[in-house]
Amino acid sequence: MDLYDKDVVSIKDFSKEDIEGILDLSEQMIPYAKGEKIDRTLDGKILGNLFFEPSTRTKLSFESAAYRLGCDVIDVSEMSMTSMAKGETLSDTIRIVNAYCDAIVLRHPSEGAARLAANCSVKPVINAGDGAGSHPTQTLLDLFTMRQAKGTLDGLRITLVGDLKYGRTVHSLADALTMFGVKLTLVAPEGLQMPQDTIAHLREKGCTPTVETNLENVISNTDILYVTRIQKERFPDVSEYQKVAGSYRIDNNLLREADRDLIVMHPLPRVNEIAPEVDSTPHAKYFQQAFNGVPVRMALLHSVMGGEF
Ligand code: CP
Repeated sequence: MDLYDKDVVSIKDFSKEDIEGILDLSEQMIPYAKGEKIDRTLDGKILGNLFFEPSTRTKLSFESAAYRLGCDVIDVSEMSMTSMAKGETLSDTIRIVNAYCDAIVLRHPSEGAARLAANCSVKPVINAGDGAGSHPTQTLLDLFTMRQAKGTLDGLRITLVGDLKYGRTVHSLADALTMFGVKLTLVAPEGLQMPQDTIAHLREKGCTPTVETNLENVISNTDILYVTRIQKERFPDVSEYQKVAGSYRIDNNLLREADRDLIVMHPLPRVNEIAPEVDSTPHAKYFQQAFNGVPVRMALLHSVMGGEF
């Protein structure tokens, strides 16, 4: 797929070949992402970073990716600092920002907001997370990290654990993994399992996940353990959150049951899901994963905004 001038709203819009192409380009971007080589092919372009929900990794790695390519960035970090606080709609906001930049990165608390924005934007819109919906650029960097660690994505045994209901990263990731013939296991506390429509979609695509509540039962049959935070901010009632908070904790005791080569990933931020003692083990890949946001987003910006490489 030629991504030039295209929106990036859902990973479902990508084929396996599209994904592999972006991962290959991301690989080439690594020395540029580290500042070891210089590429300024987006010189003169402007990226509009609209973040209407908190973010550390996604916002800063998009900014870093843009600057590494010579692209300037304008940004908003709070809805309250825009005229949306005076009642301006998202559609009007997007139309206005269109006049100020060449592409828009949008994080928004409402599921579907990125699609709405893309539909009213003449400039490409990149979904940086829409409520409990999806997070396609996180998925690309997750796949990149998996391939980097394992050499392939095909046929891996992948366990997703944590909040599979509200965690948008796992929705996009599970969709993408159907293309790679993985063996998928879903481990979540009561009430936080993957939504039924997502599971139905996985089945349609030929991936029938194993559903579990006990992580100990599956740890020894896992190549990649993908951990997610319980998304406190999405619970309608804090008492419901308190019932499931701390359901899973990855520590060295649990990992004693794992293959030596098992890797632990997490989109971060973590709260208590992974004990700090894991950080210094060869299993821990979550900080590398966060760095990989830069080369992957460089590859995306390059493709969408039209850099020559
Ligand atoms: N992984 C991720 O989306 O992190 P941020 O919320 O910090 O951007």
